[in-house]
Amino acid sequence: MFTLFINGIRRKVDVSPDTPLLWVIRDHIGLTGTKYSCGIAVCGACTVLIDGKAERSCQTFIKDIKGKKITTIEGIPESHSVKKAWIIEDVPQCGYCQSGQILQAISFLNEKPNPSDRDIDEFMSGCICRCGTYQRIRSAIHLASKLTAQGRKK
Ligand code: FES
Ligand code: FES
Repeated sequence: MFTLFINGIRRKVDVSPDTPLLWVIRDHIGLTGTKYSCGIAVCGACTVLIDGKAERSCQTFIKDIKGKKITTIEGIPESHSVKKAWIIEDVPQCGYCQSGQILQAISFLNEKPNPSDRDIDEFMSGCICRCGTYQRIRSAIHLASKLTAQGRKK
């Protein structure tokens, strides 16, 4: 039995130690906003935050995350600057990759609040979008950076 902290809630799951976090989130907890695509940590669709940092949940094993705080897309409030920017810039197309993109962007902006285009392209390059929404992702990250800075001044 493992105890997890997901989106601020304590959850117990009875799984084997080498179960990927992705399957626990989706199949045991029932949070399906986190997506499966490659399963080998190269596409970014399964990205979640672990202690505030973007990680690929398909290659993160339950035995390695004891006591850590996990945040999925369902745990990000609608008022968050990144979610707001995503809506304003109308980023998603099919939407499949977008929860991973948003969590990657949140982790990135925590590290680099005022990024250049180059910084964005480098950090976001591990999140693949088959619909090619990269230009809108870039615009949304710049906008989220501005919204966060405005929020701090209030
Ligand atoms: S499903 Fe995890 S990185 Fe692709
Ligand atoms: S919006 Fe379709 S894969 Fe990214």
